[in-house]
Amino acid sequence: MTTDRTLYLIACAAPPARRLEVPIRAAQRVGWDVCLILTPSAHRRLTEDAEDEIEALEEITGHPVRWQYKLPSQPDVLPPPDAILVAPLTNNTLAKWATAISDTLALGLITEAIGLGLKIVALLHLNDAQAAHPAVARHVDFLREAGITVLLGDGGFTPHKPKQGNVDAFPWQAGLNALYTEADQYRLGPLDPTGPIARPAAPQDVPHVARHDLSGPLGLTGAALEVGVRRMKELHLVMGSSTATFSGDRAAA
Ligand SMILES: Cc1cc2nc3c(=O)[nH]c(=O)nc-3n(C[C@H](O)[C@H](O)[C@H](O)COP(=O)(O)O)c2cc1C
Repeated sequence: MTTDRTLYLIACAAPPARRLEVPIRAAQRVGWDVCLILTPSAHRRLTEDAEDEIEALEEITGHPVRWQYKLPSQPDVLPPPDAILVAPLTNNTLAKWATAISDTLALGLITEAIGLGLKIVALLHLNDAQAAHPAVARHVDFLREAGITVLLGDGGFTPHKPKQGNVDAFPWQAGLNALYTEADQYRLGPLDPTGPIARPAAPQDVPHVARHDLSGPLGLTGAALEVGVRRMKELHLVMGSSTATFSGDRAAA
């Protein structure tokens, strides 16, 4: 799988931060190069409350896990992002983000990303007592107005009763769905945003598409097209009066 799209997964100090392998592997399966950034609190938890978890995540992503600002003299060690998934997003980072506070690397990246026009999806994790604070709804509205997909409520995260959260029920899939391209969706099939993480269909289970007529505006990016071609045995692209045929990985005409 080629990885010409970079996803920054930004995780705060809430329980789903102990399951980061799940969204990382799922995003990698559809071609994202995933870089992990933690808040300092999340980094402390994964360092002091877990053994070798950071090292394992570095191994999976193939990148250093970043959690603090680099010094001006230090090089950038991560490729620039094409999209950002902030999950789990805590109440704390939400409040700071909505007010443009940037005292952590995670906040610096997500505050700046708004101005850069990057695709940003945020998946909160908080209990219903935290969520009832009147500032929370305002912060969510504010970020939504700024163009961020904040998945709270239907189709996203539903706050649980205090001390009754289920870390394995965190809807990572909803966050990933909001980032998927059409080709990713095709490959993964119907996705249940509240269900377990989707597994890509085995190649033999993907229907063989003999002819695909993309009339109208071409909505597929090069990467998405490649995913499609790799999964379909043959693709005929109809562009005006000419037809391009792709077989397997190679363009025939
Ligand atoms: C065991 C434990 C669970 C927590 N769970 C949550 C949570 O689900 N959501 C939340 O917003 N804060 C939660 N917190 C509080 C945050 O960890 C705390 O506000 C922290 O400062 C967040 O820092 P960050 O936003 O920089 O990651 C929890 C704290 C503890 C000790």
